[in-house]
Amino acid sequence: MDKYEQVIELAKRRGFLWNSFELYGGTAGFYDYGPLGSTLKRRIEQIWREAYVIREGFMEIESPTIGIEDVFVASGHVGGFSDPLCECKDCGEAFRADHLVDKIVAVADALSDKELDNVITENNIKCPECQGELGKTYEFNLMFRTNIGPGNGRTGYMRPETAQGMFVNFLRLARFYREKLPFGATQIGKSYRNEISPRQGVIRLREFTQAEAEIFIDPNDKKHPEFSRFADKEVSLYSDDAQEREKVEKMTLGEAVENGTIAHEFLAYHIGLTDHFLQRIGITADKMRFRQHKKDEMAHYAIDCWDAEIETDRFGWVEVVGIADRTDYDLKAHAAISNTELSIYREYSEPRMVTQFVVKPDMGKLGPLFKSKAKDAANALKSLSREELEQENITIMVDGEAMTVPRDVVKFAEETVKISGENIIPHVIEPSYGIDRIFYATMEHAFEEEMVSGKEDSEEEKRIVMKLEKEVAPVQVAILPLLTREELIIPAKEIEKQMKDRGILVSYDDSGTIGRRYRRNDEIGTPYSITIDYDTLEDNTVTIRDRDSMKQVRTPVEGIADIVYEMIYGNRKFESAGQAL
Ligand code: GLY
Repeated sequence: MDKYEQVIELAKRRGFLWNSFELYGGTAGFYDYGPLGSTLKRRIEQIWREAYVIREGFMEIESPTIGIEDVFVASGHVGGFSDPLCECKDCGEAFRADHLVDKIVAVADALSDKELDNVITENNIKCPECQGELGKTYEFNLMFRTNIGPGNGRTGYMRPETAQGMFVNFLRLARFYREKLPFGATQIGKSYRNEISPRQGVIRLREFTQAEAEIFIDPNDKKHPEFSRFADKEVSLYSDDAQEREKVEKMTLGEAVENGTIAHEFLAYHIGLTDHFLQRIGITADKMRFRQHKKDEMAHYAIDCWDAEIETDRFGWVEVVGIADRTDYDLKAHAAISNTELSIYREYSEPRMVTQFVVKPDMGKLGPLFKSKAKDAANALKSLSREELEQENITIMVDGEAMTVPRDVVKFAEETVKISGENIIPHVIEPSYGIDRIFYATMEHAFEEEMVSGKEDSEEEKRIVMKLEKEVAPVQVAILPLLTREELIIPAKEIEKQMKDRGILVSYDDSGTIGRRYRRNDEIGTPYSITIDYDTLEDNTVTIRDRDSMKQVRTPVEGIADIVYEMIYGNRKFESAGQAL
């Protein structure tokens, strides 16, 4: 069993996650989260909210998971969000054509459909399932399409990213933030991609959870006001250039901006914040790197993108977060399709005197000439250059027709005018988190098998333990009465209540031997177990056991919830929780 199998086996057995629709044999690309999995996932999401919503101030919004066609025409997903599909002519099985050849060519995902077909033919690649002949490659759009309303209805799509919800709400968000850049908004929610043939378990899902922030910034000011927070943070960077040399480079984010590895402070700040977040939830620091997209793999909307990648046992380096500079791509695209200006007025600190070429059509003369089309004629004149306006006969297009007008219908001159501000289209920095992959990596990096002394001191036995971060663990403390006797159950239930009142995730567990209960809690990553025994009845103390060291201390019941809370969320060390045993 490799680590993926071990983690998934434990995940299924202990109620973290399993394939959806198991009852009917399941289908690839869908997973259900069980009681512990849902809680662990919510803990990760909650810490994300603390980082992005509370600390950064990017308020959360909630938009529909189904979008109308215009939205995804504008975003480019209707036209260009596809993967190359190739089907077996015999068994009908579908494959990603680029995956069929990725052991043969280095940049398979950059090849056109025709080039993929050539590689398949030249290398005599057959159907991996039945050895049958493969059909021609064609582009398969990854969005789930649906009808809104009965009958043929109106075409809709399940959203392939939460991001578009923030873009289409730009004007309302700008107003909410009093039109002051930078500002940001976030969403945590489901997105959908009809992956051709997902074969990587929980790593590639057709329905998945994204946590995305869209941060609108001034395109002329990419200095981050709080960059000093992460300037000295050392990260592992695998830039476009470094990939040529196949060498990951360690440097501080301040150095990376200074030497041009990272284009600007906003991108670097969000690389720093991502690194900080991933380590906080328990991703191992030396199994993490930031890889820059190469030009030919960049999404259609981005000019620069760094992926946070996490090393996994079976799948190698897996992308879990994309931090993209989407420029003004989305706002411009939605402005064009919706015919609405999506910009923000930026007032200058001092008004500026600027020389402008001003064209003033004479409406008194245009009116009799053009009647109801006089306004169109005026607009056409305003779009002409000085050279065109200086011609003896001026030609303009009105309603698709070329018309010649005399020179005296328009006056033009260079004028110096006072300008107090301008309309700008913000650029967007987007950290986009794949929560399900992060969930899996959190489990894999926490998963350990170790030999510990068994019942007889000379014996050793295997212990499986998930060393989850304490604030992430779905059960933070287990309450274990030594025996199922009423005199022990009563104080145990009282301690359970104290923990719940303090907001600690607690489980009451009285089935099986104490040893088995410790092992069960080790497997689900419970950081602390509290045992209530007969000494408790004598001196009102209990035993707290630390999951990682397996050491125990004896602690008074009085104030125990505060002690446990401080060990989970504060700086209190386990050793200071009571008298060592
Ligand atoms: N919003 C970026 C992505 O979904 O890939």
